[in-house]
Amino acid sequence: MVEEKSQDFLEARPWLSGICDTQSTEELKNKYDGWAKTYDTDVRKDWSFMPGNIARTLSQLLPHKETAILDAGAGTGLVGEALAQQGYTNITAVDLSEKMLAIAKEKQVYQHLFQGNLEDSSIFNNSVQFDVIITAGVFAYAHAGVEVLNNLFTFLKEEGIFLLTIREDYRQQMQTALDQLSWQLITEEDFPIYDEAKLMYLLAFKKERF
Ligand SMILES: C[S@@+](CC[C@H](N)C(=O)[O-])C[C@H]1O[C@@H](n2cnc3c(N)ncnc32)[C@H](O)[C@@H]1O
Repeated sequence: MVEEKSQDFLEARPWLSGICDTQSTEELKNKYDGWAKTYDTDVRKDWSFMPGNIARTLSQLLPHKETAILDAGAGTGLVGEALAQQGYTNITAVDLSEKMLAIAKEKQVYQHLFQGNLEDSSIFNNSVQFDVIITAGVFAYAHAGVEVLNNLFTFLKEEGIFLLTIREDYRQQMQTALDQLSWQLITEEDFPIYDEAKLMYLLAFKKERF
């Protein structure tokens, strides 16, 4: 995400270079803690279309509303809100940032909320598995990478759905890891983002049955 951009672009989005220019998980957590109160307003222009798209895509793939969903990197709960609007009632939120989660909690759409690092293989106990895992805005520069992908995969049930957003340039970096997992790509949509300068993909994978 940190690359050459026009001055106007960055002036309109001072938060973007800030979060992507991060050296450690602790620093990222602190930045999101500091951003939590204005996050929803700040990202509205670029991101407001995506939570609804995710929820609609899921409702086409898995209409059963009690399905167990993990919103991984839930932030302030924009995806949870959109899922609740579609009628989903069993949603767990995990995020690094307690302050982002505090805002998510106020929205009253999550049954459980946990602060944790998605790189941590013991973030859930071994018996916990989800029908659906969603990562929206999480696979990105200075955020989550292959380690998080492989870890989350272990918490997905057989034949479960993994829905993720990823920008085209970061997808190229993650493609080998995405191809190596035992799942099938079942839907792929793309959307122009950031003044139409980039493509953001919404991908859905279905885990294989062993
Ligand atoms: C761009 S925000 C997206 C939030 C939300 N999913 C949305 O669509 O608005 C990225 C979120 O991922 C979280 N995050 C990044 N890396 C993480 C990690 N390793 N473990 C847990 N959360 C992480 C951040 O704290 C932040 O809330």
